[in-house]
Amino acid sequence: MKLCRPELLDVDRHDRGSFASTDEAMNEWLRRYARQSQRDDTAATWVIATSEGRIAAFASLSMTGIDRSEAPASLGRGSPNPVPGLLIGRLAVDQDFQGQGVGTALVQHALALAVELKNSAACRAVVVVALNAEAKAWWLRFGFHCFDEENDECFELFLLTAEIEETFGAA
Ligand SMILES: CC(C)(COP(=O)(O)OP(=O)(O)OC[C@H]1O[C@@H](n2cnc3c(N)ncnc32)[C@H](O)[C@@H]1OP(=O)(O)O)[C@@H](O)C(=O)NCCC(=O)NCCS
Repeated sequence: MKLCRPELLDVDRHDRGSFASTDEAMNEWLRRYARQSQRDDTAATWVIATSEGRIAAFASLSMTGIDRSEAPASLGRGSPNPVPGLLIGRLAVDQDFQGQGVGTALVQHALALAVELKNSAACRAVVVVALNAEAKAWWLRFGFHCFDEENDECFELFLLTAEIEETFGAA
């Protein structure tokens, strides 16, 4: 099945009901809250879908403020409080599309958006709370760091926007 580039959720074209990742809470959020969050300007949902409108993956993004007192030095140094960031609130891939690079493509899209934001409205880091240990290992592959490197149970992760630019070049 041919997949389109990441695009913003369009409830008239994209079928939220058929989306089935392994995480039911993610599926339910897409069905019940993605549209409302888009309408209320609290989260933008990006999807990778087939040309027929089947959603292969989605990610919800919001601007966030990171408490500087909780932030590691590399994130908090020289920043105002809170530190401006981009939150990947949710990200999931339909089981039929797992392991094909779709999740990676959506992360790369979010990171490119963060670089754009850095240059237009200031965005020091991308942050995400990993769902579980497997998801954490997956995020670490992109270069994310734990807020508390000493604590294996820490699932709050960040990646400096400056690091993204170094890795991928200016967007
Ligand atoms: C985690 C998830 C988003 C990955 O999406 P995906 O599209 O299957 O992932 P991709 O195909 O882009 O990446 C697969 C690569 O990651 C690797 N990988 C998969 N799980 C991994 C893990 N736990 N640790 C390290 N690497 C992992 C694969 O080996 C593969 O590597 P390769 O490209 O070198 O072959 C998807 O499995 C999912 O939706 N899980 C349920 C919800 C979830 O956990 N969301 C994360 C938000 S916190």
